[in-house]
Amino acid sequence: MARNVLGKHLALVGFMGAGKSTLGPRLAERLGRAFSSVDAVVEERFGTSIAELFETRGETAFRELEETAARDVLSRRPPAVVELGGGALGSTGTRDALAEHAFTLRLDVEPDEAWQRVADSGRPLARDREAFLALYDERAPLYDHAADASARDLKGALLAAAAIRFGSHADTGGDAVVADARAADAHRIAASELVDSKTLAEAERLWDALRIDRSSTLVAVGGGTTTDLVGFVAATYMRGIDWIAVPSTLVGQVDASIGGKVGIDTPQGKNLVGAFHWPVATVIDTSLLETLPEEERRNGLAEVVKTGLLAGESYWELDTEEMVRSCAAFKAAVCLRDPYEAGDRAQLNLGHTFGHALEAASGYTISHGHAVALGLLAALRLSGLEDDARVVQNVLEPAPVAVDRDRAWAALQRDKKALAGRTRLVLLERPGEPHVTSEVEPERVRAALDTLIA
Ligand SMILES: NC(=O)c1ccc[n+]([C@@H]2O[C@H](COP(=O)([O-])OP(=O)(O)OC[C@H]3O[C@@H](n4cnc5c(N)ncnc54)[C@H](O)[C@@H]3O)[C@@H](O)[C@H]2O)c1
Ligand SMILES: [Zn+2]
Repeated sequence: MARNVLGKHLALVGFMGAGKSTLGPRLAERLGRAFSSVDAVVEERFGTSIAELFETRGETAFRELEETAARDVLSRRPPAVVELGGGALGSTGTRDALAEHAFTLRLDVEPDEAWQRVADSGRPLARDREAFLALYDERAPLYDHAADASARDLKGALLAAAAIRFGSHADTGGDAVVADARAADAHRIAASELVDSKTLAEAERLWDALRIDRSSTLVAVGGGTTTDLVGFVAATYMRGIDWIAVPSTLVGQVDASIGGKVGIDTPQGKNLVGAFHWPVATVIDTSLLETLPEEERRNGLAEVVKTGLLAGESYWELDTEEMVRSCAAFKAAVCLRDPYEAGDRAQLNLGHTFGHALEAASGYTISHGHAVALGLLAALRLSGLEDDARVVQNVLEPAPVAVDRDRAWAALQRDKKALAGRTRLVLLERPGEPHVTSEVEPERVRAALDTLIA
């Protein structure tokens, strides 16, 4: 069974009328992949429509052509989003090819809704309602069996593709639980080990204390500190064991537990030692957030606003569940598109170049969320988006910070994202359209930084 879509085709399966052909291309675009439809491949090969092939050759012959096309498409590289026809899973050959090459996502639809969508479509198997509903029941177990996950919409599909699911922290499974001390206390979580910092000493303690072997699955319940640390322990122990992230902070649920980056802080700096090691699952339980201190909620809200600006949607106005779902799906898509941070993922640094400089200049006494909120203001102003800057000001209300201006400027220039002496910044053409640039004159960057300092 494929855990997520990394290195695999994303195969969309499901009944006629589930919306595969509408969702497929949108999903492909979000994952930065090509889209291909097995039906379309067959039609192209034979220069005629599926309905026509059904009529002239009969269903059995059509299924053979379909299987050949499916196996062919699924054996190609690079991984794409592949839509399979509603009946394709009847073939063992196709099911084997899916198991070998794909993360198979079942797109769910209620039978009546499916019928309404396809009743007048002229599809060969959608001419009679009773027969259509009987076929639905007949095929349902095939989809169940072949699918690695299921979804109903684009966000659901992106979350599933990254192995993120919403559910209770209590039904996670796994062999050993490492939890944040406060989260464990507040939610009566039975943990093998409690942690509250991501240092090498903590990693060493866990390597030693946990009764784990190569086949164990570690569970991390906590904020980014815990998931980064436990993910790092999992990445390194016996050269990598499975782990499950159960984020308990807003930062964790919308950001830190998604995308596979794990690591520890060292005396030389934050997150300098780490790895890419995707959790086999991320389980998001928003009820864990009920005990989160206000300051931590605000840290998370800054990342929510950042994500909303990148997506071009006001995610911060949504209720908690939908807000987390939207942000998590957005980050999942960016990270699946760029799993090892070779390009696209840079956009996630919106506001962070300024934010990191302010944090460093304060000697890490100001909160990350406060620093990022200010950083977003600077990025929006440099983008010429004054109205959006006002929105951020109203939502996050970040007060300017009292830090040394020269120290902040020096920190900003040292930022690890600097290229050939010029600071690389993420700016927005407009909300929803980020771009990375090294073209902004240093004087303007410094002026924008200065406006954030009291
Ligand atoms: N890997 C990534 O992609 C990524 C992305 C963003 C941030 N991070 C990392 O995440 C870390 C910050 O994570 P964070 O903001 O989640 O902070 P955190 O994990 O340090 O938790 C913040 C505070 O909240 C407490 N807490 C956690 N869950 C709680 C709960 N449910 N109820 C009450 N209190 C709770 C913790 O004990 C702690 O005091 C940083 O180290 C950062 O580098 C990693
Ligand atoms: Zn951040």
